[in-house]
Amino acid sequence: MPGLFITFEGGDGSGKTTQIKLLTSWLEAKNKIVVVTREPGGTDLGNEVRHLVMHRKGFIAPRAEALLYAADRSHHVQTIVRPALDRGEIVVQDRYFDSSIAYQGAGRVLDTDEIRDLSAWATEDLVPHLTILLDVSAEVAKLRRSRPTTDFDRLEAEDENFHNRVRESYLALAKRDPGRWLVVDGEITVEKIHAQILAKVALLLE
Ligand code: TMP
Repeated sequence: MPGLFITFEGGDGSGKTTQIKLLTSWLEAKNKIVVVTREPGGTDLGNEVRHLVMHRKGFIAPRAEALLYAADRSHHVQTIVRPALDRGEIVVQDRYFDSSIAYQGAGRVLDTDEIRDLSAWATEDLVPHLTILLDVSAEVAKLRRSRPTTDFDRLEAEDENFHNRVRESYLALAKRDPGRWLVVDGEITVEKIHAQILAKVALLLE
């Protein structure tokens, strides 16, 4: 695969959007072709799934939720991500299958191996070259979300225990596969976080 696939992970309010913008500007200044995308919602179909999983009122069975995220992912990888990587471009993506392991696996308490297998099937085993975790405590993440809690999406609205399980799951995933993950303390300044990310990405570009 000639391209480079970088994913960002972290809790809601971890600062992914800011860091994705900064990294993308830096790469583009180096004349790289960058595709910035996200899950759920990197395609038209994905945006419909995004609306369902994040904003639908009422209960969604945990396995149905996992399948909806996997369906979004499968379509996204086949129509956007793989073609860009095959063209030799850099894909910078907000969330990927690690989100499903953390949120549906640890958060909803589904079997994490089964969730991983589901995504592996959905994506035909496409694994990122680098996954950047912006690690923030559940309390800080909550403070950073400026919207009133009544506007929270279905996942954001979950309680602190849920968000703590998500965080712990991310840290465990990173620990198990340090070659793929860069864990950055998301509570330091935006500039310092950006510098740590650049140091790692620059190595990958060499
Ligand atoms: P975001 O685009 O603002 O990060 O919101 C996406 C939400 O969806 C966030 O709460 C995390 C959640 N999510 C999952 O639960 N599972 C997944 O596989 C993905 C990609 C996201």
